[in-house]
Amino acid sequence: MSDDHHCNYMKNIAVFASGSGSNYEAIASACADGRLDARVVLLVCDKPGAFVLGRAARFGTPVFVFDPHTYSSKSEFETVIADRLDSECVDIVCLAGYMRIIGDVLLARYGGRIINIHPSLLPAFKGAHAVEQAVEYGVKVYGITIHWVDESLDGGRIIAQRSFDYDGDDPAEVHRIGQVIEHRLYVETLAKLLSGES
Ligand code: GRF
Repeated sequence: MSDDHHCNYMKNIAVFASGSGSNYEAIASACADGRLDARVVLLVCDKPGAFVLGRAARFGTPVFVFDPHTYSSKSEFETVIADRLDSECVDIVCLAGYMRIIGDVLLARYGGRIINIHPSLLPAFKGAHAVEQAVEYGVKVYGITIHWVDESLDGGRIIAQRSFDYDGDDPAEVHRIGQVIEHRLYVETLAKLLSGES
């Protein structure tokens, strides 16, 4: 087949990331070694220079990098993104440390096909400082959530969760433990979703 990543049986994933991209790498690795019957056809990144871009280059993932400030509105850049998703025949969008709220345009065109990973047991500790807040509360059971993305902040229907015990006060340690779990949970959850099990 000449146009081999277009709309054939294999599922096409887009990952959105703003920072380090360790979850992007977990997903891309699982695609590369066959644990996921899918490929990452696009990395969307709103931070020129982000660490994730080097990871994407190593995997040969096409990237769409943009600076939101060069657009007049969220609708404008989301239209460009949605057009790219269309042209790559994206089946599912994985938010992985994408530090922006998904807006109307992407929800209208990709709603029901966007998932996010969040470092708490939702609905506890929504938002950007979930781990720090949980530590501040003295939480003893931490966790990771993967959920559908809707118009609410970290409020869409939950797909998967995994918990772990931690009785300390170091947010960096919670992040370290949590990220190992995130990488596994993202791949396992995608495998189920893509095979129609979830
Ligand atoms: C993860 O901790 C995820 O839960 C949160 O953002 C972080 C992204 O990490 N949404 P990375 O860029 O994938 O390493």
